[in-house]
Amino acid sequence: MTIRFDNRVAIVTGAGNGLGRAHALLLASRGAKVVVNDPGGAVDGKGGNHAAADQVVAEIKAAGGVAVPNYDSVADPKSAANIVKTAVDSFGTVDIVVNNAGVLRDKTFHNMTVEDFDFVVKVHFLGTAYVTHAAWPIMRNKAYGRVVVTSSNSGIYGNFGQSNYGGAKLAVVGFMNALRLEGQKYNVFINALAPVAGTRMTESLMTPEALEKLKPEYVSPMVAYLCSEQCQRTGEIWSAGAGYFARIEYREAPGVRIEGRAPTIEDVEANIEKIADLTTNKIYRTSGEEVQAVVGA
Ligand code: NAI
Repeated sequence: MTIRFDNRVAIVTGAGNGLGRAHALLLASRGAKVVVNDPGGAVDGKGGNHAAADQVVAEIKAAGGVAVPNYDSVADPKSAANIVKTAVDSFGTVDIVVNNAGVLRDKTFHNMTVEDFDFVVKVHFLGTAYVTHAAWPIMRNKAYGRVVVTSSNSGIYGNFGQSNYGGAKLAVVGFMNALRLEGQKYNVFINALAPVAGTRMTESLMTPEALEKLKPEYVSPMVAYLCSEQCQRTGEIWSAGAGYFARIEYREAPGVRIEGRAPTIEDVEANIEKIADLTTNKIYRTSGEEVQAVVGA
């Protein structure tokens, strides 16, 4: 059956370019009323203009869809709340929050200023928390909501020169892990996306052939699915790019237990290969499950 979003109100942050634009266009094409949030500005977050959001709103309208622009930054609690207010004032509620806004300030850690560190964490991590925090009571009260946070393989697996970005991108996964537990019984589901796409953020790193394969539009079906009523999954991480879709999961080794006496540094040294051995492994879904494994029977 065709998946639709009629009567659903979606906020897509950073929807003026790249992935956010593609997510917004897809959701709107299937009936969602969309708040196209984007303050404009360069990849490093400097500057700003209304053109980015306005253009995507115009594209949605030209295709027969419903959208309003919003130019607030996610990186401030008040302006983030105003993004949610735009949805409520324009369309009466909010059902879907796609936290997509992002910036880059890449440098090796030893060359990075704390300002560049703070700024990137603010946009990606705190921005996600601020916008979701403003929308959360609305979704919780009506027992319906779908939230997407945008992570990255940079945070999950590591990328040179992205300590600020990688840290923030894994922070949103930790954030999701708690909200999965808090939102589940209210039918508010939250998932994390780890996208790969050719956008202004990544195009300088890609060949024309790669850019052709890595269209943002090839990621958006995963986001739209995660935002749909049909999706009953929550608290998981999804890789998407170039038509490839895969779930990502942590795993933990069976480990080693030193019993009957206090463990020593030398116990760790003697067993380090076995402690590290993931040949067989376990997946835990909550911190409580893992603590039980640590404590043992
Ligand atoms: P992009 O630069 O085309 O889009 C990011 C958008 O966020 C821009 O329109 C920008 O104006 C907006 N934005 C920046 N600061 C903002 C703020 N404070 N408030 C609201 N909007 C703001 O980049 P792209 O590639 O589309 O990135 C989208 C998301 O996907 C980002 O979170 C990025 O980190 C993430 N991502 C992208 C990957 C890729 O391969 N393109 C890989 C992994 C993650």
